[in-house]
Amino acid sequence: MKIAILSRNRKLYSTRRLIEAAEARGHEVQTIDVLRCYMNIAPHDPQVHYRGRQLPAFDAVIPRIGASVTFYGTAVVRQFEMMGVYCLNESVAITRARDKLRALQLLARKGVGLPVTGFAHSPDDTQDLIGLVGGAPMVVKLTEGTQGVGVVLCETDKAAESVIEAFRNLDAYFLVQQFIEEAQGADIRCFVIGGKVVAAMKRQAKPGEFRSNLHRGGSAAEVQITAKERSTAIRAAKIMGLNVAGVDLLRTEHGPLVMEVNSSPGLEGIEAASGIDIADQVIGFIEKNAAPGKTRTKGKG
Ligand SMILES: Nc1ncnc2c1ncn2[C@@H]1O[C@H](COP(=O)(O)OP(=O)(O)OP(=O)(O)O)[C@@H](O)[C@H]1O
Ligand SMILES: [Mg+2]
Repeated sequence: MKIAILSRNRKLYSTRRLIEAAEARGHEVQTIDVLRCYMNIAPHDPQVHYRGRQLPAFDAVIPRIGASVTFYGTAVVRQFEMMGVYCLNESVAITRARDKLRALQLLARKGVGLPVTGFAHSPDDTQDLIGLVGGAPMVVKLTEGTQGVGVVLCETDKAAESVIEAFRNLDAYFLVQQFIEEAQGADIRCFVIGGKVVAAMKRQAKPGEFRSNLHRGGSAAEVQITAKERSTAIRAAKIMGLNVAGVDLLRTEHGPLVMEVNSSPGLEGIEAASGIDIADQVIGFIEKNAAPGKTRTKGKG
């Protein structure tokens, strides 16, 4: 097959691994920087051009769309869908997952367990917002944050009030969330491919830190997940409409709570922690599913 990987940098671990796995299975791979793509929007013969020429007819596209290029990246994926090319994750699904508020609302609507969460932009009653999630201890998060930046633990209502007031002046959207102390600074990343959890890892924050992000000094190890954790991860990915997803769970006595569903989950941490060749499984999934016209959306939405 001819496979395109939409990635800004072919040297990134995940991109590199996908290229290796695809080539090892006999496919031809091209890495494409979405920001360099340009397209015609036409009812007949939609095309994607790149570096001065029309891209060849791909059998499958693997979107690896970074958070900062979501808008244009999903437009390029949509264009491939219009051309009838199989996209590993559909543009609408990527858009759903990227919008944290929309994602949490969709999950809540389907009854998936979530930490009690409120969201706001410029609330004029901070106390009421704090009350909405049951008061301190609580976590306040900027929706634009990644790698743990902009995620603050407030141990008292007073602290929460100060943080919310500071965020209010940033002209930004933010979440307030019940702090799940039981998780003990750990979260569980489930890597889902085609409705199956193929690997899972537990990320543990360093001592004195509640954020388990590897960029914040957290460490990752393989973990056995419960049946409920498995089914929750699968359900969350399905609700988002993602074939490939990284579902982050917080472990509690009453079962898992979904924190986030990632549409371009990284391979490095999870391959190292689990010893599983995830890139190979991704390509295997594409081989089974990328038949012409298999894209459901045809670029809708
Ligand atoms: N409600 C919570 N209770 C306990 N711990 C939390 C809670 N929310 C976040 N954490 C911890 O903080 C870490 C960072 O939070 P989160 O994943 O929401 O932000 P981020 O990593 O910056 O964003 P993104 O995952 O979108 O890149 C989580 O991995 C988890 O360990
Ligand atoms: Mg995170």
